[in-house]
Amino acid sequence: MRTKRIGRCVLAAALAAGSVATASAQSAPKAANVSQVTFNKDVAPIFQRACQNCHRADSIAPMSLLTYKDARPWAKSIRQKVSRREMPPWFIDKNIGIRSFKDDPSLTDKEIATVSAWVDAGAPEGLAADVPPARTFESADEWHIGKPDMIVSMPVAFTVKPENSDWWGNFTVDAGLTEDRYLKAVETKPSSGGGLKVVHHAVTSLVYDDGTPGGGTLNEYAVGKNGDVYAEGSGKLIKAGAKINFNMHYHAVGTPITDRSQVAFVFYPKGYVPKHVMNTMLTPMNDDLDIPAGADNVRSDAYFKLEKPSRLTSYMPHMHNRGKAQCLEAIYPNMITETLSCVNRYNFGWQIVYNYADDVAPLLPAGTIMHTISWHDNSAKNPWNPDSRNWVGFGNRTSDDMSRSWLNYYYMSDDEFKKEVSARKAAKAVLSSQR
Ligand code: HEC
Repeated sequence: MRTKRIGRCVLAAALAAGSVATASAQSAPKAANVSQVTFNKDVAPIFQRACQNCHRADSIAPMSLLTYKDARPWAKSIRQKVSRREMPPWFIDKNIGIRSFKDDPSLTDKEIATVSAWVDAGAPEGLAADVPPARTFESADEWHIGKPDMIVSMPVAFTVKPENSDWWGNFTVDAGLTEDRYLKAVETKPSSGGGLKVVHHAVTSLVYDDGTPGGGTLNEYAVGKNGDVYAEGSGKLIKAGAKINFNMHYHAVGTPITDRSQVAFVFYPKGYVPKHVMNTMLTPMNDDLDIPAGADNVRSDAYFKLEKPSRLTSYMPHMHNRGKAQCLEAIYPNMITETLSCVNRYNFGWQIVYNYADDVAPLLPAGTIMHTISWHDNSAKNPWNPDSRNWVGFGNRTSDDMSRSWLNYYYMSDDEFKKEVSARKAAKAVLSSQR
C-alpha cells in the first residue's frame, strides 16, 4: 500500500514537472499546450462520472463541480481528497481480494494522477472546444426499480435544523403486510423537495419484533445509487407483520429542510417462490468488544458458518467513530483462507454496501466460515474520536462502538454450485488464452 502510494505521487510529480517544463519553454504565454492537462479536456469527464451526482446544486455535497468556475476555487482541496481516496466516498482496498463491484464510482490510479497533474499545473481551464456536453441527471422523484407495488414512508417527517451537527437515528414503522411476499426489487429514497440535500445516507432493514430470523438490511440509499433489483429467479422474503427500520444520517445545509424518506418494493406474483432466496446475515455481535482508552489497532473477530453452498452478493462493514479498518475472509472447509475484501479507510460518515460484480461474486462451498476482522482506533490521532480517554465497548449509541458486517447471500443446491464453479473456471480459461 505504502509503495503504491509513493508510486502515485512520483507519477503525479513527474507529470506536473513535465507540463511546467513545456509551458516555460514556450514563448506564447497563454496558448493552451496540447500536451497539458486541462479541466475541459481531461478533468471534466472524470468529474461528470464520479463527482457531479453529489456535487451540484440541490444534492448532498457542499459545493458544485459542474463547471470550471465552480471547481477552480476548490482545486487544492480536490487534489488532497482525491489523492487520499477520500473522494468519491468508496473505501475498499483496491489491492486486496475482489476488485470488481457494481456502481463503483472510485477513480483509477491514472485518473487520480490526471486530477493531481491538473492542480499542480495551476488548474488550467483549457480550450472551450474541449468542454464535454453537460451531463444530465435523473429526476429525484423517479423510482428506478419500475412501478412499486408498495411504498412505505418513515413514520414521521424529520426536520433538519439549519445549523444542526450531523445526526444519526432510527425510525421504525410497520410495513402493513398481512401475507408473506417475495421481493423482486427494493429502493430507498429521500422525499422529493429538499430531502436529497440533507439525507447523507439511509439504510433500510427488516425487523421482526418476535425475533423471527430473516430480517436484516434491505437497501442502502446514497446519491447516485438506483436501488437493488435481484437477479431473475432470486428475491428476498418479507413476512407478514414485518417492520421497516430507517437508519438515517442527516446533514444540515443552512436552511431548515424536512424529509420523510421512503422505501419502495416490487413483488413477485403472489404464490411465486423464487429459486434463490436472499439471506442477510449480520455477523454475530461482538458483545465483548474491549477497546482500551487511547489504544490504536484494537482487533476483534466475528465468525459464522454457511451451512450450504452459497453465493455472496454484497458486503457492508459497520463500525462507529473508532472504526478504522475491516476485512472479510473466507475460511474454506479445507482450512485454506482467502481474503475477500478489506476496507482500509473506514469512515463512519458513509455507510456503503459493496455489491460484488456478478462474474466475481464469491462462490463459497458448504461449511465455509465467514470471518470478519475489525480494527478500532481509540487514540487521539483519530479525528472522529469523541474522547480518547474513555474505554469503549459494544453499544448502539454512536459513542459506543461495533464490529459488525452485513452480508447478503443465497444458498444453492450442490449441483448448481458445481456448475457455477466450473463455468467460472472455464470463463477464466478463456480470458487467459486470449492474452
Ligand atoms: C456520494 C456523494 C459524493 C461523491 C460521488 C463525491 N463527493 Fe465530494 N463530498 C461529498 C460530501 C457530502 C462532502 C462533504 C463532506 C463529507 O460529508 O464527507 C464532500 C466533500 C468534498 C470535498 C471537500 C470540500 C471541503 O469543504 O473542503 C472535496 C474537495 C470533494 N468532495 C471533491 C470531490 C470530488 C473531486 C469527487 C469526484 C472525484 C467527489 N467529491 C465525489 C459527496 C460526494
